[in-house]
Amino acid sequence: MSKEAIRKSPFVPLEVHGAKGFRKGFFVFCLLFPSIVLCFLTQIIYFPIFFLFTVFPTYTTYMMLDSRLRAKKKSCDLSKWMKFNDGIDRKSISMSNFHEEYLSGNIDINCDMFELLENRHEWADFVIEWHHIKFLLMNLLPQAFHSVKQDENQITENYDRGNDFYSAFLGPAMVYTSGIVTSLEGHQSLEEMQQNKLNLVCEKVQLKEGEKLLDIGCGWGTLVCHAAKNYGVSATGCTIAREQVKFGLGRAKEYDVEDKVKFLCHDYRKIPKSTDSDGVKYNKITCLEMAEHVGIRLFQDFLLQVYELLADDGLFYLQIAGLRRSWQYEDLIWGMFMGKYIFPGADASCPLNWVINQLEYAGFEVKEVETVGVHYSATLERWYQNWMKPEHKALILKKYGKQSWRLWEYFLAYSAIIARQGSATCYMITMHKNLNKLDRVNLIQRNGVKRLIA
Ligand SMILES: C[S@@+](CC[C@H](N)C(=O)[O-])C[C@H]1O[C@@H](n2cnc3c(N)ncnc32)[C@H](O)[C@@H]1O
Repeated sequence: MSKEAIRKSPFVPLEVHGAKGFRKGFFVFCLLFPSIVLCFLTQIIYFPIFFLFTVFPTYTTYMMLDSRLRAKKKSCDLSKWMKFNDGIDRKSISMSNFHEEYLSGNIDINCDMFELLENRHEWADFVIEWHHIKFLLMNLLPQAFHSVKQDENQITENYDRGNDFYSAFLGPAMVYTSGIVTSLEGHQSLEEMQQNKLNLVCEKVQLKEGEKLLDIGCGWGTLVCHAAKNYGVSATGCTIAREQVKFGLGRAKEYDVEDKVKFLCHDYRKIPKSTDSDGVKYNKITCLEMAEHVGIRLFQDFLLQVYELLADDGLFYLQIAGLRRSWQYEDLIWGMFMGKYIFPGADASCPLNWVINQLEYAGFEVKEVETVGVHYSATLERWYQNWMKPEHKALILKKYGKQSWRLWEYFLAYSAIIARQGSATCYMITMHKNLNKLDRVNLIQRNGVKRLIA
């Protein structure tokens, strides 16, 4: 394993085609063209109907053609990197056809997945394929509705598959969000990085003894137990996954904070307005990489719910992953892979400006934003190294099968690179209610967010 604190790219990173140079005017013209032609042949009043029926096919055809036309033509000896088990000789392969065929077992690779993906610009094309369009139509759009039942089925299926599956890469910390590197000297372990993150989050919301903390989408409960043990708060975690609650209760016992920690095992929409009989609102609310599951359609409702649950002088910490605004085709292809295989139903991975707009609209004042993609890259690399350990590989292959093992091997290695190059990143956002009566000076005096980076 690389001994650097954060692994750097061994090669000069390449930009691939995307938003830069995307001919917006021509794109809009193409979207309108079929409806205009149909209007000429019939009547202008039918324009909205024609547009409704032609916009999606035109949009997708445009993206497919544009990505193909602008893809660099490379001649590469694919056999240097991979072997095709169907015996068909290929001259090139797209990134998404590679992962589909690798998962189906038709491709075996000749080197470590990380090395293969670091060199992807040599052998892969970043093009939009038919299966992307099919996924968009059949899965992504219908999922965007996010009914409670739909989310329950999708999310529990994912997170309840077995704690041994997750511990094979998350390690003993069992934290499924980015850790923080606090020193660029030497190599910090995953456990150190997660401890740094837990402390940083508790500092960002200025936890004080006796306060009430709510962690929405609490995962395996590590943050609530850590906060109860080290900051003396009474902490409530909410997750939809039963296996996570079982684990969290065990962790609370291990940390000797059973009397201070409570878990709600249900959808976030069912969090009672005041969970305690005291009727007091939460002083602090945290939500680490769960809001992506809420979805775009319900995001504003979710924020209004948090606003309602939070005390007027409270702090809300949101950690959320997002895609860059100035996209490249590679980012879209990676995003669709994640939506299909890793976080089905999660559709709120949006650019930062969208998130901030939503927060301000809901009545929050943003206090601090940090972008931690590079820390995420370091975290993902450590998850990858854990996953590759022979004992973990043997367990996963035996219990969950080859496809599951390959899926996470590809996801972890590729995501480490994606986070490092900025295709996707993660934001730590701290905020409070935007009220005239709020004593903002008091928040500053108590805060002085500790800079942990050495
Ligand atoms: C990526 S994990 C993050 C877990 C945790 N915050 C951490 O740092 O390890 C997302 C979490 O959100 C929870 N979640 C997703 N959708 C949910 C919903 N509708 N209601 C409650 N929890 C949900 C999942 O069960 C999971 O615990």
